[in-house]
Amino acid sequence: CPREFGQTSAPGEIKMDYSDIQTIEHDVLVVGAGGAGIRAAIECASGGLSTGIISKSLLGKAHTVMAEGGIAASLGNVDSRDNWKIHFRDTMRGGKFLNQWRMAELHAKQAPDRVRELEEWGAVFDRTDKGLINQRNFGGHRYPRLAHVGDRTGLEIIRTLQDFCVHHGISTHMECTGLDIILDEGKVSGLLAYWRETGRFVLFKAKAIILATGGGGKAWKVTSNSWEYTGDGLGMAYRAGAELMDMEFTQFHPTGMVWPPSVKGILVTEGVRGDGGVLLNSEGERFMFNYIPEKFASETADTEEEASRWLDGDREARRPPELLTRDVVARAIKKEVEAGRGSPNGGAFLDIASRRPAEFIKKKLPSMYHQFKELAEIDITEEPMEVGPTLHYFMGGIRVNSDSQQTNVPGLFACGECAGGMHGANRLGGNSLSDLLVFGKLAGDGAANYINSLTGQLKCGNEEVGKIIKDATDILNREEGKNPYLVHEELQSIMQTFVSIVRTGEELEAGLDKLQELKADIKKVSAHASAQYNPGWNEALDLKNLIVTAEAVTRAALIRQESRGAHTRLDFAGEHEEGLEYNIVIKRTDSGMSAEKVKRENPPKELADIGFASLAELEGGEIGA
Ligand code: FUM
Repeated sequence: CPREFGQTSAPGEIKMDYSDIQTIEHDVLVVGAGGAGIRAAIECASGGLSTGIISKSLLGKAHTVMAEGGIAASLGNVDSRDNWKIHFRDTMRGGKFLNQWRMAELHAKQAPDRVRELEEWGAVFDRTDKGLINQRNFGGHRYPRLAHVGDRTGLEIIRTLQDFCVHHGISTHMECTGLDIILDEGKVSGLLAYWRETGRFVLFKAKAIILATGGGGKAWKVTSNSWEYTGDGLGMAYRAGAELMDMEFTQFHPTGMVWPPSVKGILVTEGVRGDGGVLLNSEGERFMFNYIPEKFASETADTEEEASRWLDGDREARRPPELLTRDVVARAIKKEVEAGRGSPNGGAFLDIASRRPAEFIKKKLPSMYHQFKELAEIDITEEPMEVGPTLHYFMGGIRVNSDSQQTNVPGLFACGECAGGMHGANRLGGNSLSDLLVFGKLAGDGAANYINSLTGQLKCGNEEVGKIIKDATDILNREEGKNPYLVHEELQSIMQTFVSIVRTGEELEAGLDKLQELKADIKKVSAHASAQYNPGWNEALDLKNLIVTAEAVTRAALIRQESRGAHTRLDFAGEHEEGLEYNIVIKRTDSGMSAEKVKRENPPKELADIGFASLAELEGGEIGA
């Protein structure tokens, strides 16, 4: 039974006796219990490694459940023309070709196996008439590709993984938050964390750490993310010397709830549009027909004739413009609102009631039906919903090796949303669930291989542990100081105002100045009380990661002087050819955060051929056979 550390119960009485700190030892420690974390842990445990997961909240309560509409994999069950190459091509196109080519390749090739494996582990997917896993349409996907469980796909995936994980002897440490990673001569040797309830510190000794902490949506006011998503993995990795990349690409999902205010931002799945829902402005117009980029039509239509039909506003188009990629739809809603054609609460109408029978809606979208009934007193089988953009996902994240998911810090791995590179400038809906399974498994393999090659003993130095404890407990001991909740609100207001769906250099500069002032405030926050049951202290500790996240996004957004995918600069319209030549990489330096353009490698020819092929070439089997 691990010993408990005698954390102070009165401010100012920190007892720095390291032998008293509770210590738990694993081969691998996974930080984060969403789909990516659990999948990584399963892989490690299957290889015989002692594996622990720490979760800031409860097992199963993860942003994974917010990928409601489905998991993308080219099973070809609904349209047999689908295959990995077309999925790969769609993903690269959606990401505006900024994705790491190798990651997109691994993802498209391995996603079908990960879905079938999940089914073997007990996930119950919706079926086609022939009894195969059913697949639905989603934005940017050429064919119906999203295997789904009504509109609760993420939930079913977490439930399945969670069951599997507890039966594999993986230790789960819940309501436990990581503070910082400990290195021994540059290699990972552990992580200091604290139990949220008691405030006691706990030292996890581990040979490898896999970060799977999700994104940092809580840096914005309107977000689909819940309280846990404060960029913890991003902050910890950055402080440990790992690099972040593509941080300028933050995805605003076009459809979050806008009313009532208490639930603003909660996700309304893209599955509503995938199953036939349409977007209307206050004049009842299907405005998305006015926002079809010429490039979309020419790149995604089967024929030139189909492309021109779309551009002419053909209502019978096989894939409606409501299923354009999320960046396009989110900007269109914003423009309609700005033009005075928004819904009463500042969004657009999403109507499925007049397009599909009530029974169909209740069967395919049961959560949406209940969500609107309970939270907004709206029956979506009879009335349209009101929706607007909500910060949903980070395309950017910790820079990793595509195959092993290892960062530049030996022993430190990252997967899922907190890792960057897979989605480029914009993620296609449904690719997050397949990402977390594919790269969760690869991170587990990567960590196992790394551990097998390790020689010698690792230690967690007292000095490092002491410094982390001191930084954390200073907040408790400070009698005067800023209120952490107010500082968080201020941060959200800066990001919502200055680093939003569309950006300008001037706004980004102003935002950055304000963030610098806030950084100084964060150093002075106070939660003067015992560490036990002290949510103010928990909040203050999260701020350290939120500010790294916010600063990284803002700096990267300032440097990328073009508009690409989810990053729109009003002062730099359109994609610039040069924009494809680099990623923006963020690092910690002695003088603070650095953000610089780092040259990208050219893609291997066989992948470039597939990515840039026409559909006819791919379907005819001429390319990438
Ligand atoms: O709209 C949705 O169901 C979200 C899916 C995703 O982000 O992948």
